[in-house]
Amino acid sequence: EVIEANGQVLLPGFVDLHTHLREPGREDTETIDTGSAAAALGGYTAVFAMANTDPVADNAVIVDHVWRRGQEVGLVDVHPVGAVTVGLKGEKLAELGTMANSQARVKVFSDDGLCVADPLLMRRALEYSTALDVVIAQHAEEPRLTVGAQAHEGERAARLGYTGWPAAAEESIVARDCLLALHANARLHVCHVSTSGTADVLRWAKDRGTKVSAEVTPHHLLLTDERLATYDPVNKVNPPLRTESDAEKLRAALADGTIDCVATDHAPHAVQDKDTEWSAARPGMLGLQTALSIVAETMVRTGLLDWRGVARVLSERPAEIGNLADQGRPIEVGEPANLTLVDPDAEWTVRGAELASIAANTPYEGMRLPGVVTATLLRGRITARDGKIG
Ligand code: NCD
Ligand code: ZN
Ligand code: ZN
Ligand code: ZN
Repeated sequence: EVIEANGQVLLPGFVDLHTHLREPGREDTETIDTGSAAAALGGYTAVFAMANTDPVADNAVIVDHVWRRGQEVGLVDVHPVGAVTVGLKGEKLAELGTMANSQARVKVFSDDGLCVADPLLMRRALEYSTALDVVIAQHAEEPRLTVGAQAHEGERAARLGYTGWPAAAEESIVARDCLLALHANARLHVCHVSTSGTADVLRWAKDRGTKVSAEVTPHHLLLTDERLATYDPVNKVNPPLRTESDAEKLRAALADGTIDCVATDHAPHAVQDKDTEWSAARPGMLGLQTALSIVAETMVRTGLLDWRGVARVLSERPAEIGNLADQGRPIEVGEPANLTLVDPDAEWTVRGAELASIAANTPYEGMRLPGVVTATLLRGRITARDGKIG
C-alpha cells in the first residue's frame, strides 16, 4: 500500500506516559478497546495506563490483564503503570518486583495510591526502584495543603468564590521528592507539572544531578484559570489550570528541556460526574486525540519547537523515560516501524461526541485546531488512517 505524504511530517509514533483507560472498574467511561482507538487516532503507538483503576493496579494479576487486553486489541501497546502502594489508602508498599517481572514487565510505578502523604514510603519506593531499574512517577499534590475544590488558589479563584489549591502544594512535594530521589540515587518522574515554580525546582534539581524527568499536559500549556469564570466543570482538573504566566513558563521549560515531554493525562469521565456543580464534579479531561494539535498550536505556531522538537517531546523522551527500547527512535532498515504521519497545515474542529472515547469531556469543544494525524503505524501495520481505525 502506498501512503501519499506530500507536505506532511513523518514522526516516530507518539508515546503517552500518562493515560487513564478506566479498565477495570469504570468501563462506562472508557475501556482498553475505546482508549486504544483514541490513542491510535491521536498518533500514539504506546500508552502507559495509569494505576488508579478499581481495583487499583497494585498486583501482577491486574497489570497482566491490562497488558494482555492491550495486545488483543492491537492498536497501541498498553503498558500498565503499577501502583506504588497497595489499595487506595496507600499505607503499604506494593510488590513492585513482582509487577516488574510479570508478563507486563511494569516499568513505571505511580503513587496513585496516595503514598505521597508519607515521605518514608516515598523514600522506600525510590530505594526499591533503583534495584529494579524502574521509574517512580510522582503524581499528587501535598494533600495537607490543598483546600476545597480543585481551582488554582489565586486572584481569579478568590473573585469567583472558589477555595483553592496553591502552587505551593505542588512545588513543595516536587522539591521533597527530588531531594529524596537524589538521596536514593533513584529515577523520579514528575507528572503533570503545572506551575512556574515547579519548573524552577526541576531546573535546580537537574543542575545538581538529580535523575528527574518531568511531563506537562497539553491543557496546562494552553488553558488557564481564566476558564474558571465559565463555572463549567469540564475545566476542573488535577492539578488545576494555573495562570497565564504559569502556562508561558511551562511552554518555555518544555522548549529548553527543563520539562522533558508532553503527557496527556487523558481522564475520561461520565456525563453525570461532570455535569454537576463544581465541587461534586470529578477532575480530569480527555487528551489523546487533541494532544498533537495543542502542541502544534502552543509550541510549533509560536516558534518554540520545530517538528524535530515535537518528535522529542511526544515520542523520544517519553520512550526513554518509560524504558521502551522499540519506540521513540528512527527505525533500522528492515525493522517494523512505529510511525505517525501529520499534516501540519490542515485544521479540524473538535467535537467531543465524535471522539473515539466513550466519554466526551473535552475542554476544546468547538475549537478549530491545527495539525491533523493522517496515519499511525504500529510495527508496520496501519492502526489509524485519515481519522478512521485500521
Ligand atoms: C485523574 C483521573 O481522573 O483519574 N484526574 C485528573 O484530573 N488528572 C485523577 C487525578 O489525577 O486526580
Ligand atoms: Zn491520580
Ligand atoms: Zn494526576
Ligand atoms: Zn492522571
